[in-house]
Amino acid sequence: MRLETERLVLRLPDRDDLDGYAEVFGDPKVMKSLGSEPKTREETMTWIERKRWHWERYGIGLFSLIRKSDERLLGRAGFLMWDPERWISAMRADLEGELETEIGWTLGSEHWGHGYATEAAVACRDWALGELGLTRLVSVIAPGNIASIRVAEKIGETFEREDLPAPFPQRVDLYSLGNRPAR
Ligand SMILES: CC(C)(COP(=O)(O)OP(=O)(O)OC[C@H]1O[C@@H](n2cnc3c(N)ncnc32)[C@H](O)[C@@H]1OP(=O)(O)O)[C@@H](O)C(=O)NCCC(=O)NCCS
Repeated sequence: MRLETERLVLRLPDRDDLDGYAEVFGDPKVMKSLGSEPKTREETMTWIERKRWHWERYGIGLFSLIRKSDERLLGRAGFLMWDPERWISAMRADLEGELETEIGWTLGSEHWGHGYATEAAVACRDWALGELGLTRLVSVIAPGNIASIRVAEKIGETFEREDLPAPFPQRVDLYSLGNRPAR
């Protein structure tokens, strides 16, 4: 699976992405926004493997964002499945049943503020709503993460619900586009 925008190629994470992701996930500024501690190279490799499994298991997942001009890995954007009852993500468990599809984005801090996240998120949204035929996407965002909230708004998401009972160290709110199916 591969998407392309004006400045970026979006492709499946690869083991060769380790150096690029080790930089992104080793950066305390990035990880603080995610409510987490910097990851070691070993943890980063486990993350890459898990993301590859996520694509195989659910047919959707996170893309590596590669800048066309210099082939540098800038970060990730794409999808993560969630159990909407317990708010556990597919990074933590093999989920069954009706799931929510989260759209998310993370860039190395030196690449913030150039419109890359919005560019990638628009391509991901259009692919999910177009080719995949999804009618709803959600984003799980901490209330102080203004840049991430702006990206969510720019792709058409709006605030839906505050303070999810997700197993996170920080408060997170739910943004969405499309209606929640009746349960
Ligand atoms: C969130 C993140 C991906 C945004 O990436 P980005 O490429 O800088 O975003 P964009 O350049 O597309 O900017 C999107 C909007 O946010 C605004 N923005 C960016 N950084 C901002 C900041 N620090 N404060 C306020 N607004 C900000 C931009 O101005 C833009 O809005 P505008 O077009 O109305 O001006 C990036 O900050 C990041 O990786 N953060 C750490 C990881 C993270 O928090 N991920 C999201 C978890 S929910």
